[in-house]
Amino acid sequence: MSKLFYPKDYKFKDPKIRNQKELQDLYDRFANDFEGTWDQFAKEKISWLKPYDKVLDDSNKPFYRWFTNGKLNVAHQCVDRHLEENKNKVAIIFEGDDGKSDVITYRKLGQKVNRTANLLTNEFKIQKGDRVIIYMPMIPEAIYMMLACAKIGAIHSIVFGGFSAEALRDRISSAAAKLVVTADGAFRKGKSYMLKPIVDKALEIGCECVKKVCVVKRNFEEIVIGDKDVIYNDLIDLQSPKANSPLHDSEDPLFLLYTSGSTGKPKGIQHSMGGYMLWAHLTMEWVFDLKPTDTYWCTADIGWITGHTYAVYGPLSVGATTVIFEGVPTYPDAGRVWKMVEEYSINQLYTAPTLIRTLRQHGPTEPEKYDLTSLRVLGTVGEPIDEETWLWYYNEVGSGNCSVVDTWWQTETGGHMISPLPAATPMVPGSATKHLPGIWAEILDENGKMVTKVGEKGLLCITRPWPSMARNIWGDTDRFVESYFNKNDFAGNMIYFTGDGAFYDEYHNIVITGRVDDVINVSGHRLGTAEIEDSVNKHFYVGECAVVGKPDKIKGEAVFAFIRLTEPCDEKLILKEINIILKREIGSIALVDSLLVVDNLPKTRSGKIMRRILRDIAKKEEVKGDLSTIEDPSVVAYIQEKFKEKY
Ligand code: WT7
Repeated sequence: MSKLFYPKDYKFKDPKIRNQKELQDLYDRFANDFEGTWDQFAKEKISWLKPYDKVLDDSNKPFYRWFTNGKLNVAHQCVDRHLEENKNKVAIIFEGDDGKSDVITYRKLGQKVNRTANLLTNEFKIQKGDRVIIYMPMIPEAIYMMLACAKIGAIHSIVFGGFSAEALRDRISSAAAKLVVTADGAFRKGKSYMLKPIVDKALEIGCECVKKVCVVKRNFEEIVIGDKDVIYNDLIDLQSPKANSPLHDSEDPLFLLYTSGSTGKPKGIQHSMGGYMLWAHLTMEWVFDLKPTDTYWCTADIGWITGHTYAVYGPLSVGATTVIFEGVPTYPDAGRVWKMVEEYSINQLYTAPTLIRTLRQHGPTEPEKYDLTSLRVLGTVGEPIDEETWLWYYNEVGSGNCSVVDTWWQTETGGHMISPLPAATPMVPGSATKHLPGIWAEILDENGKMVTKVGEKGLLCITRPWPSMARNIWGDTDRFVESYFNKNDFAGNMIYFTGDGAFYDEYHNIVITGRVDDVINVSGHRLGTAEIEDSVNKHFYVGECAVVGKPDKIKGEAVFAFIRLTEPCDEKLILKEINIILKREIGSIALVDSLLVVDNLPKTRSGKIMRRILRDIAKKEEVKGDLSTIEDPSVVAYIQEKFKEKY
């Protein structure tokens, strides 16, 4: 049996959920009165500007509506409502790549958001419901922009700064955005880099929908100023620092965030205002034990869902201090993160296993050099965490005193679904433990029957709706239903399918085994194999290819390609050239790590590549599952042999 690690009580003063009994009570409350319990939390945590009529409207499944006809304003919830009591409290600590920091109080944040909201309305004529693309570095202006959009009811869609011009163009066009907000560039590892030229390129190759580009000057490098470009810095101080908070409906979209699926183009996941904010707020309190007096740091970029919910909306809704960092955690050395924890007395640190593995590799004893006693909760997210990494985080970073919360969730879930509670749950390295109160997570087999046996693998599903669930895929309702709700449980109820496999351990904790679909997870970032393959196939000498995830010590998974060539060529050269294409079409996060040239790929009789077989081979696992549909069974042994020779 794996060892259990119990929370250290002295670290937690007055946590929201104190112990296992209180946790059980909360489960029972939800089980006995699902809507009533949500109702109570919604009233307690959200400053409704007009009360809702109904907690949950499930008359049109899977298009659930939460807190119907309730009105709120997310900027009011995250900023303005804190001003009465806490105006001079620090909302954001910003640390630049160069180590210089800036402190933004709630009052200053409120003024900045208002000026930015006025700029959006007056200068850019942005109205409620318009889409605004944010393609920015991690600087405070990016957050002012998010909250300003929220204030006026514009829908932001943040595109991670590592995506290429083509990937950016696809997202801009799909959202039919009127405005793109960017920066000239920013700083990374002591050097300046550029973003604006990538926006220029995206607009050159498409995006007629874009009327204006708003440029925040950060590195002050030279940029080409075109007809559509407007410089933020020139206009922002001319705007009034006052703005009212219009009433928005609970179900109005707050943002879109594009994420990869197993087929086709990225999906614009659409989140709502009311339900999303409730769960962002509650999970901050439950999972991180976040108090308004805490200083909290989530290292995720705002280009990912973690950066939305847990660097911006969640911590600000609670009224705490959130740390925003422009730079790279390993620069100037592997002590950067620990130095920042000491300097700002950070209470909760939230990051990805990949980063923990990197920091450990570069400086296993670095944490010792700093005073990390302020830490209470250590969070991880994005990929499974191996036991060794978990133990290093727990022992070397947390000195064996902090709770480690391994949080399982997805872009689509909006917030945490499965996680320990820091004062209540006995922790097991490598398991996100149990579903949170209010969340119904089950492991089901192919026929929708509940899996209950320890160790038996099944599909992770969520069987009841929850407030922060995705509401739609922008412009593609059919795909929304097809991607997530095409499975029923045994009793015929509609359920949400996560795309992950899982099993129960001996404590009835859920252990996630990873994606069961054609999505790979590199350093906690989701990539679709179909998108990568589309690009790889553009290489002149690539006849066919299949891309899978290959286990990697640091990144969790690395992109691996099986390729059939039309002409014999040098493998190294092919890899280099393929990566030039990938960098152009998607960005450097999607590069192929290694490849194998083969004469044949496993296919069904109808000609579909059987990627799951290749996945098993790349994982060096036994090839499982039904092989009856394979066209030529000898291909499996052939590829296995070739793979073994090389890797
Ligand atoms: C996929 C979602 C949630 C924010 C970051 C990624 C994997 C996420 C864990 C975890 C094991 C995890 C799953 C999931 N994942 N958290 N704690 N343990 N796997 O968001 O890009 O939407 O990816 O990340 O496979 O389906 P995302």
